[in-house]
Amino acid sequence: MTSISIIGSGNMAAAIGTRAAAHGHSVEILARNETAAQVLAERIGHGTTIGSYGSRPAGDIVVIAVLYQGAVDAVEHFGDALAGKVLVDITNPFNADASGVVTTPGDSMAERIAAAAPADASVVKAFNTIFGGVIAADEPLDVFFAGGTPEAKQAVSGWLASMGTQARDAGGIGMAYALEWAGILLVGLAGNGAGFDSAFAVR
Ligand SMILES: NC(=O)c1ccc[n+]([C@@H]2O[C@H](COP(=O)([O-])OP(=O)(O)OC[C@H]3O[C@@H](n4cnc5c(N)ncnc54)[C@H](OP(=O)(O)O)[C@@H]3O)[C@@H](O)[C@H]2O)c1
Repeated sequence: MTSISIIGSGNMAAAIGTRAAAHGHSVEILARNETAAQVLAERIGHGTTIGSYGSRPAGDIVVIAVLYQGAVDAVEHFGDALAGKVLVDITNPFNADASGVVTTPGDSMAERIAAAAPADASVVKAFNTIFGGVIAADEPLDVFFAGGTPEAKQAVSGWLASMGTQARDAGGIGMAYALEWAGILLVGLAGNGAGFDSAFAVR
């Protein structure tokens, strides 16, 4: 069992939290809107708790499930409370018409989050190349991830494997930028015939 904290109370927080709780992990929701956090915790069930926004998360793995525009703010708000945590960046920094990303090589959202986080936190980019509905469907799935120390990669891979997904390591944090573009590719494929229940797989 892995302890998972999720910052945010939107669609992805619901999808990841539901899947994690259904597979026996403890889940905590931390959101700036405490009522929304409570509603989501009750919806997920399985003893899901809420935490105080900005206080130290209970989970060893902390999923940053907020819009990219708020991700660095959220990490800065928690500050030293994130020391030693594995931070999972799921953001897609799409431009206004989803034709590209607003990040640049070496300055992906994962790298911005790492720069804002305590030095001993480890940032892993994951889940951004999968639609929330596909995560929630709880079927076998490849999850691409990048970044993190070897220990953080192991923690995230183990968690993913326990939820019926195959963790696919894309490399170091520099590959997070490629994953951000892969999010654009996914949306392009989905909107041009593949559909929004499609997902990438390695074979
Ligand atoms: N939806 C998908 O299929 C999908 C797939 C892959 C990746 N993603 C990524 O996952 C992340 C979450 O997406 P979502 O679909 O769950 O979005 P969502 O349903 O709109 O939820 C967004 C969450 O972010 C919070 N938030 C926004 N700005 C914030 C800030 N400045 N500080 C703290 N919290 C803030 C919102 O809080 P309030 O309710 O208080 O505004 C809400 O809880 C995004 O970065 C998105 O790019 C989404």
